Amino acid sequence: MVVRFAKRGDLDAVNILRKEVNDLHVAGKPEVFKPGFAQELRNYIYVIWDDPEKDIVVAEENGDICGFAVLAHIVRPENPFMYQRNFLDVDEFCVSSSYRRHGVATAMIDFIRDIAKERGFHRIELNMWEFNQDALAFYEAVGFTTYRRYMEMFL
Ligand SMILES: CC(C)(COP(=O)(O)OP(=O)(O)OC[C@H]1O[C@@H](n2cnc3c(N)ncnc32)[C@H](O)[C@@H]1OP(=O)(O)O)[C@@H](O)C(=O)NCCC(=O)NCCS
Repeated sequence: MVVRFAKRGDLDAVNILRKEVNDLHVAGKPEVFKPGFAQELRNYIYVIWDDPEKDIVVAEENGDICGFAVLAHIVRPENPFMYQRNFLDVDEFCVSSSYRRHGVATAMIDFIRDIAKERGFHRIELNMWEFNQDALAFYEAVGFTTYRRYMEMFL
């Protein structure tokens, strides 16, 4: 298995994985996520591709794209409350359901960590939905810790 930056020709395969994540989000948070995987959402991968501040990483096994991640370079300017913050954000992340529990996601995080260090970042950030306890277990297993929470109350 190899982890590398995506080529444009990988993006249709990446979209199959993006649909898996979207379906998971729709099932877990139906009042937030739109069902289906509309053309607009399919095309959005090309908006990401064209964005100089974003990268798409893929894991490939025997010619199959079995995992992907979207990375974003984030600079939050200083404000009256906070210092400036620079970090690498993991915006989207998925391993194909047929390849899970074989270390693919761990290999992608290792690759992302190396890229972040090479580019001078001192911090990687991501956010996730609370229902997704499998993802939480994975992120904690590879060393992420929770530093902030969103809370809600339905009326
Ligand atoms: C979360 C996800 C990326 C993990 O990918 P993976 O390739 O299966 O992960 P790895 O094989 O590298 O797992 C490494 C370790 O993480 C933990 N882990 C991974 N998946 C887990 C799960 N479903 N439940 C509990 N622990 C889990 C385990 O400690 C695992 O080590 P082990 O297999 O030796 O027990 C994958 O399940 C996935 O794509 N889920 C759907 C999409 C998603 O939720 N994306 C993230 C939020 S947008």
